[in-house]
Amino acid sequence: MAKKAGNEAKLGSDSSGIETLRVLVVHGPNLNLLGEREPEVYGRTRLADIDRELAELGAAIGIKVTTFQSNSEGDIITRIQQARGKVDALLINPAGYTHTSVAIRDAIIALEAPTVEVHLSNVYRREPFRHHSTISDIAVARIMGFGAPGYALALRGVRALVETARRQHA
Ligand code: DQA
Repeated sequence: MAKKAGNEAKLGSDSSGIETLRVLVVHGPNLNLLGEREPEVYGRTRLADIDRELAELGAAIGIKVTTFQSNSEGDIITRIQQARGKVDALLINPAGYTHTSVAIRDAIIALEAPTVEVHLSNVYRREPFRHHSTISDIAVARIMGFGAPGYALALRGVRALVETARRQHA
């Protein structure tokens, strides 16, 4: 297991005693174009606005959020590997790689952290090739169809999931 270091090192608790969680948010290919790309499908909110909202929400609910976007499958895998032992949960929209990537699936399994799959659109209302996800059976939860607000829902869900899991193992 990788050593804890840097921004993702084990964080303390806030004044109310609630432990600060570390969540890595990964955005897959073409999501850097959010707001411009097919706005009728993905909405007009830009990725920078989603990331800022997640950081603000995280600060309010005791989550240190780190965000990462790449158009490259290898870079996404490397980033997930770097997070081993350093995050409490992963929130990921693998975008187009959702439907094809065994390698991202394997990296998530190696991460050994609860993972929430997020999609802006409801993929089941779209082309059949989008109905298959290589990670749906290893994700603890999936959120789709809410557009940009789905990310905030997912982050709140992560807090609840991790707390429930810790209570069960206490
Ligand atoms: C997406 C759905 C994918 O099918 C698509 O390739 C994307 C975005 C979504 O968020 O709705 O790029 O993951």
